[in-house]
Amino acid sequence: MKVIVTGAAQGIGKAIALKIASDSKVQQGAKILLTDLHQDSLETVANEVRALGSEAHTLAGDLTDPNFIQALSDSIHLIGGLDAVASNAGLALHSPLLTLSLEQWQKNFDLHVRTPWLLARACHAALKASHGAFIITASVSGTHPTPPGGAYSSSKAAALMLAKQMAVEWGPDGIRVNTVSPGMTLTPMTHSAYTQPGVMAQRESRIPLRRIGQAEDIAKAVAFLMSQEASYITGADIVVDGGLTQTLMAYNPGWKT
Ligand SMILES: NC(=O)c1ccc[n+]([C@@H]2O[C@H](COP(=O)([O-])OP(=O)(O)OC[C@H]3O[C@@H](n4cnc5c(N)ncnc54)[C@H](O)[C@@H]3O)[C@@H](O)[C@H]2O)c1
Repeated sequence: MKVIVTGAAQGIGKAIALKIASDSKVQQGAKILLTDLHQDSLETVANEVRALGSEAHTLAGDLTDPNFIQALSDSIHLIGGLDAVASNAGLALHSPLLTLSLEQWQKNFDLHVRTPWLLARACHAALKASHGAFIITASVSGTHPTPPGGAYSSSKAAALMLAKQMAVEWGPDGIRVNTVSPGMTLTPMTHSAYTQPGVMAQRESRIPLRRIGQAEDIAKAVAFLMSQEASYITGADIVVDGGLTQTLMAYNPGWKT
């Protein structure tokens, strides 16, 4: 399996890279091109991937720079082709809409919408050649307003539609495009929230499966969508949230049976 993983230095991206490496251990190992903002943290993950018997290459840069996206797709030769891309990099730039700056709005849409579009387009020829898969890490915030997530939620909603649009336009090319929508997941992005007193217990009590998601929970869904087990799935969104988004009626205080 020849794969690009973005946002691979930590959190869900790191878990995706390690899951792919771990799954390919019994075969000849995967070839993974890892990318994130900083080289040093990427190298640490690359070494963990190598320890699992896979090949790892790293390329550091800012995915909101279209020139870097081009450089990334120009590096596909390092892994000898491309079977799948995990377009996962994201940032939690939350601010209420009333006070949101134009810059914050733009950053959200650049990274969560423009980047997957440009990356998928730059990888189109390689994915067409392999009948490959492109997976975007979206969010349950893309279907459920999440105060004060103003532009974050809006940009994730756009990412969900972008994936469906690409699935329809590129299905005839044999390319599958899907999304995975994490719910509340413990990663470096969210760690500080969970260290506040009571937050973990309060949030867990809202989730039917009664636990906060781990990066590995999301990685399993991404790996499935990359695999041949998902060869007839495109334009789909897998929600990995422990049931959180199904709970609207469960909290109706006046409900009597
Ligand atoms: N953690 C959650 O609760 C949660 C919930 C829903 C969706 N998500 C989504 O999951 C994805 C991964 O999030 P995570 O929780 O692992 O966060 P994280 O902050 O731990 O990891 C995100 C990675 O993306 C990288 N990144 C950010 N901006 C970048 C840029 N401009 N160029 C290149 N790399 C960049 C960061 O350096 C970081 O390593 C994101 O798209 C996020 O929106 C997370």
